[in-house]
Amino acid sequence: MRHLIHINDLSDSEIKTILHKAEAYKKDEISKTLQNKKIITIFFENSTRTLSSFEIAVKNLGGEVIRLDASKSSTSKGETLRDTAANLNAMNPHAIIIRHSTAGSGYFLMPKVSCPIINGGDGSHSHPTQALLDLMTLLEHFGSLQNKKIAIIGDIKNSRVANSNIALLPRFGAKILLVAPPHFLPPTSLPYTHSLQEAIEQCDALISLRTQTERHSIQTYGSLEDYAQDFCITSEKIKNKNLIILHPGPVHRNIDISDCVLDDERCKVLEQVKNGVFIRMAVMDFFINPPKA
Ligand code: CP
Repeated sequence: MRHLIHINDLSDSEIKTILHKAEAYKKDEISKTLQNKKIITIFFENSTRTLSSFEIAVKNLGGEVIRLDASKSSTSKGETLRDTAANLNAMNPHAIIIRHSTAGSGYFLMPKVSCPIINGGDGSHSHPTQALLDLMTLLEHFGSLQNKKIAIIGDIKNSRVANSNIALLPRFGAKILLVAPPHFLPPTSLPYTHSLQEAIEQCDALISLRTQTERHSIQTYGSLEDYAQDFCITSEKIKNKNLIILHPGPVHRNIDISDCVLDDERCKVLEQVKNGVFIRMAVMDFFINPPKA
């Protein structure tokens, strides 16, 4: 049984298969390959994009979604996450999509289930489908990522999106530049800078991140407004530079990206959301109807 917990659970050729299928779905080439399949979603952290796009993806392919409201699940009565997974698995779902604040939670559920577990984001560890939809959006714009320089900007230390993109994008030829104040920078062997302006001058794409205040045990910076002075992507900073801007959402307006840049045609945030549905359709089809070896 295969699961998608980390982006490295997929080979390059499997990722190309998923991207190819997502592009076909985008052209409306859809068949109901999840008919009679039941998929459980259980999100212990809030979500707008990931939860709804997974559920739309399943429905687009003819499958049924059973959403377990995490706040009303029996974990609030002391049931362990492992026992919750074992009990859900006993109802014979075809996949379980989970979001949880604990990094690596999918790994300790795997032995308890006989269906694929798909990670919708686990703490600051991993968000594989976000990286896939980011890759799709970048490839649609650039055609190829060979030697494209991509800046990842902001709270990299606490970001599962950053981790997944750092693991994925170089596999397709991209060069990564980390851009953050020292307190948001993890120990790294990757090139980094504390200057957003330097990144704008060098890079073809900017991936801005939200400050993950919910994962900070202590506040190590003055305020988000102080952070924005240096790291908010504004029209004044990007001028007419030929680049594109991505953000996984939710965006802190005028902290991560200014109102004006969010409306700029170089900003691909809503294209990312659109692609998220097609990527998640392709992922669900891949794991529930695996290609024959
Ligand atoms: N990008 C992302 O994971 O957004 P949500 O938290 O809204 O799902």
